[in-house]
Amino acid sequence: MNERKIALITGITGQDGSYLSEFLLDQGYEVHGIIRRTSTFNTDRIDHIYIDPHSPDAKLFLHYGDLTDGTTLRRILEQVKPREIYNLGAQSHVRVSFDSPEYTVDSVAMGALRILEAVRDYQQRTGIEVRFYQAGSSEMFGKVIEVPQTETTPFYPRSPYSCAKVYAHWQTINYRESYDLFACNGILFNHESPRRGETFVTRKITRAVARIVEGTQQKLYLGNLDSKRDWGYAKDYVRAMWMMLQQDQPDDYVVATGETYEIKEFLDIAFGHVNLDWHNYVAFDPRYLRPAEVDLLIGDPTKAREKLGWKPSVTFEELVKLMVNADLINLNLPTPDGSKGVDSTLNRRNFASIVD
Ligand code: NAP
Ligand code: GDD
Repeated sequence: MNERKIALITGITGQDGSYLSEFLLDQGYEVHGIIRRTSTFNTDRIDHIYIDPHSPDAKLFLHYGDLTDGTTLRRILEQVKPREIYNLGAQSHVRVSFDSPEYTVDSVAMGALRILEAVRDYQQRTGIEVRFYQAGSSEMFGKVIEVPQTETTPFYPRSPYSCAKVYAHWQTINYRESYDLFACNGILFNHESPRRGETFVTRKITRAVARIVEGTQQKLYLGNLDSKRDWGYAKDYVRAMWMMLQQDQPDDYVVATGETYEIKEFLDIAFGHVNLDWHNYVAFDPRYLRPAEVDLLIGDPTKAREKLGWKPSVTFEELVKLMVNADLINLNLPTPDGSKGVDSTLNRRNFASIVD
């Protein structure tokens, strides 16, 4: 379909942005990403695929911009002329969205609207189709009304973050129907990896396990351990994003494993992998509680399987272990199963636990 394979990614420096960039480069795309100006480098997750843009081999290009800055988004769109846009940028931490609701909504909800408006004008003026992917979230289901959740389950968002994602979801549909845009919503359930941000519960746990083994951390402070999540592997999930944009018609898809586990079960496997009992290390800190919690998420990926041919490749247990292994390797420690690790090439900053 697309003669010139050019993709633009917002949130390219995030977990998903890094995997999606690798995937698209492998598919022969020229990849452009929007990065925020920061006083320290924020490109750790993509440094290994970035080469000097002066080189004739360069296929990955970065542009300064921000989802809160519509003028720049439009300028980048005009310069890059992408055929596909993946809108992954977001203040994506649910707990933090209660602390910074206005900024979260601006980047997540208004950010999506700004891009949709830019695409609408660009496509109308040039006649060139630009396919759009919106990074929707299972958090939109919130206080679940139906188990498992499908594309038709009603939303009941429980945080500023998920309210903003619901807005972006419906605007994506609205622009598809109003202006004939090829715009898709992925409703992705939690997906993790060794590149997961250090303050999400899975990575916080696997990183703590490695530091406890190393002897540099004694306690792991967590909040609510009773909630259940449908956790998959991020690398599988970015493939689904791309698949959505390769279909004949734009549509919305749930991407999930169809299994759900308690945080306690994640702890069992993560600590058990290094022969430790988490009960001896985990302590409760109420600061990690949320004003409103999402208790249970479990997705039904039937539509993605049947229409996209997508299915997950990594089991829950494999996921937990590969994350623990990667964090052990990051600290130059041996892995219990002798694994050399995947995706552990990153030398992430060594956050103090206060930042958790
Ligand atoms: P992430 O690791 O937190 O990455 C978020 C990305 O957005 C980063 O590149 C970040 O840049 C960028 N960003 C933040 N604020 C921005 C702004 N104002 N303007 C431009 N870029 C901004 O998130 P992720 O896990 O990769 O998730 C990708 C997307 O999928 C997000 O929209 C998230 O809400 C959504 N999602 C994630 C999951 C999941 O389980 N991972 C599930 C469902 C939906 P910096 O690096 O500079 O901070
Ligand atoms: N982050 C965090 N830190 N969560 C904790 C902690 C802690 O110390 N202790 C318990 N939890 C619980 C949270 O209360 C929540 O019930 C669960 O662990 C998962 O929290 P997160 O890992 O922060 O993820 P999330 O489910 O809130 O949100 C993630 O998944 C969404 C998809 O459902 C994020 O990636 C969102 O951006 C994404 O949309």
